[in-house]
Amino acid sequence: MKEVKVLGVNVCDYEGEGDPLIFVHSFPLNSRMWDRQTEYFRKHFRVITYDLRGMGKSSSDDNVFTMEKLVNDFFHILNILKLRKVNAVGLSMGGYILLRSVIKDPDRFISLTAVNTKPEKDDDETLLRRSNAVIKIKSGGRDAFTGKLLKNLIESTDENLIGEIRNIIEMNTDDGICGNLLAMSTRVNTIDDLSALKIPVLLVTSGKDKITPPENLMRLFDIFRKGSPDGMKAFYNFAGCGHLCNMEKPDEFNRLLYWFLNCIEIERRKG
Ligand code: MLT
Repeated sequence: MKEVKVLGVNVCDYEGEGDPLIFVHSFPLNSRMWDRQTEYFRKHFRVITYDLRGMGKSSSDDNVFTMEKLVNDFFHILNILKLRKVNAVGLSMGGYILLRSVIKDPDRFISLTAVNTKPEKDDDETLLRRSNAVIKIKSGGRDAFTGKLLKNLIESTDENLIGEIRNIIEMNTDDGICGNLLAMSTRVNTIDDLSALKIPVLLVTSGKDKITPPENLMRLFDIFRKGSPDGMKAFYNFAGCGHLCNMEKPDEFNRLLYWFLNCIEIERRKG
């Protein structure tokens, strides 16, 4: 694996054979949440992960940035690594970034997999919750913030898995976490522009997700179905699973994604 810095953003390029497959992580984790996927997919794809600005090994000068900056980071990574088109997978905040990126430049995508995310911007209640979280973390309440959040990230009570997620969160600085909270607050609605999306899309939800319940992506899938835009559109729900389904049910998650990417490949060869 090769690590490269793209405008301060730390990118891990696993350099495998095959089409590029880039994973974008959720809040407030970092690229390590994809370890079970990099291991599996690097045999078949050129796997790429990265730490969002302010998280993990990605430095940020002042931790003041917007969602649009995170979207620009995504395209900078593709450009610097000379990736013309990618399969992209984003969970929650990672999904927010990709749902906006695919509207800005759909030609850079072979496919999109959006997991436990939504195309709607924050409502007032969420904005106030984020604002209070920033105040809490800035006044020394980081442990309380993490403790409360951890309960919502997975459904499983596996202590090892909970410990692993806690460790990943611990790698991030208070300021980086606050920067990302504020960046999420600067999202715009993407649902109207997504309805005509022509690339293949896999939408994945978890039945027990307390952060982004399945209804959000079910609504988007319904829009795809009614509009019948070109390109395969698939939907899958992990019934008993929580928010981080890629960590909680890694084997099932990997099999699902592999199935989807294979279907696309077969279609591409036919076409
Ligand atoms: C995430 O998992 O990325 C975040 O919890 C999403 C959010 O807070 O909207």
